[in-house]
Amino acid sequence: MKLLVINGPNLNMLGIRERGLYGERSYDQLVEYIHQCCRELGVEEVECFQSNHEGAIVDAIQAAYGVKDAIVINPAAYTHTSVAILDALKAVNLPAVEVHLTDVDSREEFRRISYAGLACQTRFSGLGFAGYRKAIEYLLDLQSSKEKKP
Ligand code: DQA
Repeated sequence: MKLLVINGPNLNMLGIRERGLYGERSYDQLVEYIHQCCRELGVEEVECFQSNHEGAIVDAIQAAYGVKDAIVINPAAYTHTSVAILDALKAVNLPAVEVHLTDVDSREEFRRISYAGLACQTRFSGLGFAGYRKAIEYLLDLQSSKEKKP
């Protein structure tokens, strides 16, 4: 599997931003964690992309078309606002899983809306870094169940 992991705005500030909510570990540590999971789970190739800009995230999703097999995405604040990211995910039509470090449903009302989630197979929310591992496992299971079908 060739995997793209996208992290949206302010996730580059992990370890600095609201540590009580998002934890002490940095974005670099998250990237290392994802690489470690991919090695353990046998993912052939992983690219981790982070941007604070909606258009750059749309560009990264579009660039995945025909090149990647699956997407893990934490759109961060754009989760709750971005029809453009939803449309990009629909356009490339790759299996995608939504991840949030925190439990977005138990926070402010506005965080309950997820546009990107409408184009994702499932969501892992509130599990911290482990949500990314769950997402990768889910996508691998999905891929192998598709391969088993004649
Ligand atoms: C987040 C939750 C979002 O509501 C928030 O805007 C973020 C991070 C999470 O990972 O918990 O920036 O996606």
